[in-house]
Amino acid sequence: MRKKLRIGLAAYGTGWDIQAWRLPEATSSGLYDPSVIVDIARIAERGRLDYIFAGSSLASEPDRLQRIHRWDSAVFAGYAAAITRNVGFLVSVNSSFEHPFTVARQLATLDNFSNGRAALNVVMGIDREGGPHLNYAGTNIPTDATKYERAREFTVVLNQLLNSWDRDFVLDDKEGGVLVRPDAWRRVDFKGRFFEVRGPLNAPPPVQRQIPNVHVGQSQESLDYGADLAHVRFSPYLGIDEGKREYRRLKDLVAARGRDPERFKIIPGVTFYVAGTNREARAKFNEIEAFQHTTQIPAAYARAFGVDLTGVRETERVRDVLDLSTLAADTLKDLVRDDAPAARGRLSSDDRVWLRDVVFATLGEDVTLGDLYRFTLNHRYAQGVLVGDARTAADWLENNLDEGVLDGVQLFPPYHRGPADTFVDLVVPELQRRGLFRTEYEARTLEGNLGTTEDATDPRLTAPPEPALSR
Ligand SMILES: Cc1cc2nc3c(=O)[nH]c(=O)nc-3n(C[C@H](O)[C@H](O)[C@H](O)COP(=O)(O)O)c2cc1C
Repeated sequence: MRKKLRIGLAAYGTGWDIQAWRLPEATSSGLYDPSVIVDIARIAERGRLDYIFAGSSLASEPDRLQRIHRWDSAVFAGYAAAITRNVGFLVSVNSSFEHPFTVARQLATLDNFSNGRAALNVVMGIDREGGPHLNYAGTNIPTDATKYERAREFTVVLNQLLNSWDRDFVLDDKEGGVLVRPDAWRRVDFKGRFFEVRGPLNAPPPVQRQIPNVHVGQSQESLDYGADLAHVRFSPYLGIDEGKREYRRLKDLVAARGRDPERFKIIPGVTFYVAGTNREARAKFNEIEAFQHTTQIPAAYARAFGVDLTGVRETERVRDVLDLSTLAADTLKDLVRDDAPAARGRLSSDDRVWLRDVVFATLGEDVTLGDLYRFTLNHRYAQGVLVGDARTAADWLENNLDEGVLDGVQLFPPYHRGPADTFVDLVVPELQRRGLFRTEYEARTLEGNLGTTEDATDPRLTAPPEPALSR
């Protein structure tokens, strides 16, 4: 049978592109009007997508006001679960700040209320812009060196809590006066460096056997954490060659831990600009990119490439003006250094590869100085970029799936309303025609649709971290 894509959809109030709300047809009302992202849940379900999500957000960024307000993903999921039947919800948490007992209660509650559609989206970052550490000061925050130790403890405690009750815990013996089976629970008794938790959980056990854990990160520790404890990796998109290598490396890592690599899904983020024709899609993409000011361009190229471009128009082709053979592995970082926030770290290992496999592959060979500057500024943060009609989009997805770069994608609509509907109305049917995407949900639960379920009582998922990790 044809391997099928898994598809998630991002639910950020004003969309993903920092500037796209300025389009005449875009609404910025998702900043204060929940109906915009509630509709995202409905659209996702209409398209038979796997889940919706919004990343973890504990920082305050008053210098980036269009992003300052982000809805809480657990509350949103609880609400949206009531108006949907099949689509899943990622509850985003940062294990460096949050407590596993609270999160276990949220997940168990959501999983019961949604009938098995909850997932965990876990990040560990501590030094993001706007400093979450400033908002959680005095709460035993880990350092970069210990954040994965805390993440492992967090996940293990969480799994133990979610497994601390048998599903058939109710006895309901009215005559004998026994409501709950006394042997239906297990004490947790976890004592680690960061957490001490006794349990059991004081909420009913989840419907799903193993609530999917979707993790992100860039470091080797992140890969190791995922191979041990996660089910889905929300990965950076690195192009075909590098993506293929990373995909294999990760699947091998999972297999080396004795887990089934087929069940472990690798899903990069993709921002998409889809329209009825390639020309329209490209025009919309250009219209959004053009909101980015370009007065810095000559200075930026001088800094990155050491060339004087005074008087050269930004519409000149990169190939005609620059000697790309002199491009170094981290040249593009310098190109946007003064304009790109520090948190938008470089994720590809080599800018030369990224330029070839992502920038040229997306925009064609005629990329101008302005295009490259704006694309680097707006899209260097790990996302794939899809510009085109339904066929072009489906070709891109099919090619990446067949080449072994990914198992699915997390879609980031650049703005609302419109793009999410367009994807579901134009691209999903094309994918279905090609046998690349489901026409009906296969299962009632999210783990069933994602195909991630393992034995929830597998000791590897609940065993305390190895002593070596709890330095
Ligand atoms: C694809 C991707 C998406 C991310 N999304 C978020 C996010 O939504 N919220 C957040 O606080 N950090 C996010 N991060 C940053 C991570 O918090 C941070 O990079 C990571 O968890 C820290 O571990 P590392 O040192 O392994 O990168 C993201 C990172 C990647 C690679």
